[in-house]
Amino acid sequence: MLVQFPSFLAVSVLAGFATHVLGLNILQGSKFAGKRSVEERDGVVHTIFEHNATGATIDYVKNSGICETTPGVNQYSGYFSVGKNMSMWFWFFEARHDAESAPLALWLNGGPGCSSMIGLFQARLNQCISRENGPCQFYNNATTPSLNPYSWNEYANLLYVDEPIGTGFSYGNDTVVGTVSAAPFVWKLLQAFFAHFRQYESRDFGLFTESYGGHYGPEFASYFEQQNGAIHNKSLHAEEINLVALGINNGWYDAIIQEREFISFSANNSYYPLINSSIADAYLANYTSTCLPALLTCNSTTEETPQCYNAHETCNAVDNAFSVYYPDIDYYDIRQPSSAPFPPETYLNYLTDPAVMKAIGAKSNYSECSDAVDLPFAQFGDGSRSFLPTLSSVVQSNITVLIWAGDADAVCDWFGGFASVNAVEYSGSAEFSSKAVANYTLGGVTKGTYKSVGNLSWLRVFESGHMIPSFQPELALQVFKQTLQKKPISGT
Ligand SMILES: *[C@@H]1O[C@H](CO)[C@@H](O)[C@H](O)[C@H]1NC(C)=O
Ligand SMILES: *[C@@H]1O[C@H](CO)[C@@H](O)[C@H](O)[C@H]1NC(C)=O
Ligand SMILES: *[C@@H]1O[C@H](CO)[C@@H](O)[C@H](O)[C@H]1NC(C)=O
Ligand SMILES: *[C@@H]1O[C@H](CO)[C@@H](O)[C@H](O)[C@H]1NC(C)=O
Ligand SMILES: *[C@@H]1O[C@H](CO)[C@@H](O)[C@H](O)[C@H]1NC(C)=O
Ligand SMILES: *[C@@H]1O[C@H](CO)[C@@H](O)[C@H](O)[C@H]1NC(C)=O
Ligand SMILES: *[C@@H]1O[C@H](CO)[C@@H](O)[C@H](O)[C@H]1NC(C)=O
Ligand SMILES: *[C@@H]1O[C@H](CO)[C@@H](O)[C@H](O)[C@H]1NC(C)=O
Ligand SMILES: *[C@@H]1O[C@H](CO)[C@@H](O)[C@H](O)[C@H]1NC(C)=O
Ligand SMILES: *[C@@H]1O[C@H](CO)[C@@H](O)[C@H](O)[C@H]1NC(C)=O
Ligand SMILES: *[C@@H]1O[C@H](CO)[C@@H](O)[C@H](O)[C@H]1NC(C)=O
Ligand SMILES: *[C@@H]1O[C@H](CO)[C@@H](O)[C@H](O)[C@H]1NC(C)=O
Repeated sequence: MLVQFPSFLAVSVLAGFATHVLGLNILQGSKFAGKRSVEERDGVVHTIFEHNATGATIDYVKNSGICETTPGVNQYSGYFSVGKNMSMWFWFFEARHDAESAPLALWLNGGPGCSSMIGLFQARLNQCISRENGPCQFYNNATTPSLNPYSWNEYANLLYVDEPIGTGFSYGNDTVVGTVSAAPFVWKLLQAFFAHFRQYESRDFGLFTESYGGHYGPEFASYFEQQNGAIHNKSLHAEEINLVALGINNGWYDAIIQEREFISFSANNSYYPLINSSIADAYLANYTSTCLPALLTCNSTTEETPQCYNAHETCNAVDNAFSVYYPDIDYYDIRQPSSAPFPPETYLNYLTDPAVMKAIGAKSNYSECSDAVDLPFAQFGDGSRSFLPTLSSVVQSNITVLIWAGDADAVCDWFGGFASVNAVEYSGSAEFSSKAVANYTLGGVTKGTYKSVGNLSWLRVFESGHMIPSFQPELALQVFKQTLQKKPISGT
């Protein structure tokens, strides 16, 4: 039976672990100061850390024995609370190799309102294999997970977070209405993370995300850089995030570009046409006469006006272009029918098992995608607002940026990703946009096409739906590693 514990209601305090302020924190300056305590609840030991500077609290279980079972690899799962009744779920896995020097990566799923546990565990595959980039996965309809040899913690220390509040296992008062207002919460939880997990504080840090992450990724990276700037000029006393890389696959960056490319993909993707040329022409005419003007009106404002919501409604007709003609395909992988017998969502059964929830420290019922979280984004018209200028500013800041896309996805298709990346403005723009793509290989086998100029790379992944790490796990790990090593991607 699950109850929501007030965060300091100790069921029993373990001997020798009474609440106390750590001397280390006081010595190291106030930005790290906090109070650490350990308590046992229902037979499970929780560590609680209250961070003085931000008021954030971390409440976690160490080494639950769930998911990452590689000997000697530590894992932590629980909550970051960034205010009263404002709790974001996290699961943190140490790297399987050289954890003490490996970089740190944050993975965020999209939605808005979809859990990062999807990235950790799940994929909508018709292959009896269910995995994305996490340490464990479910094979052959198994009810318990096994280790994933291509988990991204093969290379990096890996943090999954369910945000905004209300997503996944996260719970409480959600005040986020869009991408811009979501960023400070993520920054704040990272402050608490670094204050407690001190060994990661100056580590190379990469942000990896997909789908709605085309909005989250640029904005969060940009916000972290802005906060770093304020730390440098001493107007803010906080922990710098050593952001070195941003990777976004199958992202939603810019509706003006992507609504149009959606029609092009539907007509001209490399698998089969979803619509014929006369239907495409009708949709293009509609895009030009109704959708585009609405998006341009939206693009001229950052305020909370009805214009962006209206633009979204107006573009709906274009959005759903092919679903009228192909109602029975899986839009996340057009090679599959929607009626395909997906493997049962094994990970869902697992994560809702009360014994598993207790072991990992989950306090609220899991929701894969939360409508309540999504609603304010929709009302704000957040999806119609472009984050391409923000992406450009992040590329200009010289961190390594990878924009990639699986080429069988129709939800955030690669035509739109490619057109968006070609529209990024930075010192290499002219060379980048005119450069031809080359084959990208994995062990000599062509797995896609790519190009790189300076710190910006593009990769189209063949034979992959929306969730690339599920469909091409070995390739995804190689590309993740190269990007986090601050290199342009290159074939092997
Ligand atoms: C933590 O904050 C409290 C009140 O905000 C303050 O009294 C205390 O000195 C702080 N502790 C440290 C170690 O900075
Ligand atoms: C997995 O379960 C699905 C749905 O129950 C079934 O169609 C499929 O054959 C199963 N696969 C295996 C490998 O058992
Ligand atoms: C926490 O926030 C949720 C969502 O707003 C609300 O339903 C719940 O009553 C709040 N709980 C407490 C203890 O304030
Ligand atoms: C949610 O948090 C906001 C900002 O802190 C606060 O103004 C509001 O009263 C809170 N709502 C609830 C239901 O607690
Ligand atoms: C410090 O940097 C921040 C973020 O870049 C900026 O907003 C602020 O104006 C700067 N303050 C000063 C005093 O330069
Ligand atoms: C599809 O490709 C053809 C040939 O390149 C081109 O003429 C046509 O405009 C494209 N269709 C769309 C909808 O982009
Ligand atoms: C395009 O598809 C529509 C709907 O299936 C059909 O009515 C129309 O005849 C087709 N046009 C061409 C040129 O194939
Ligand atoms: C959208 O607005 C941004 C400024 O926020 C501007 O840079 C961009 O050119 C605009 N896009 C279009 C297509 O007008
Ligand atoms: C064009 O878009 C409008 C507004 O969304 C819609 O009402 C209309 O049915 C669309 N026309 C076609 C031909 O799709
Ligand atoms: C979780 O779901 C169960 C079963 O639907 C329900 O009894 C319980 O109250 C829920 N718990 C929370 C914290 O919402
Ligand atoms: C960008 O980064 C590269 C590689 O680290 C470096 O050589 C170059 O000088 C940097 N450029 C700027 C403008 O900081
Ligand atoms: C790229 O890969 C494809 C598929 O393997 C191959 O047919 C083609 O020759 C390759 N192109 C180059 C330039 O190597």
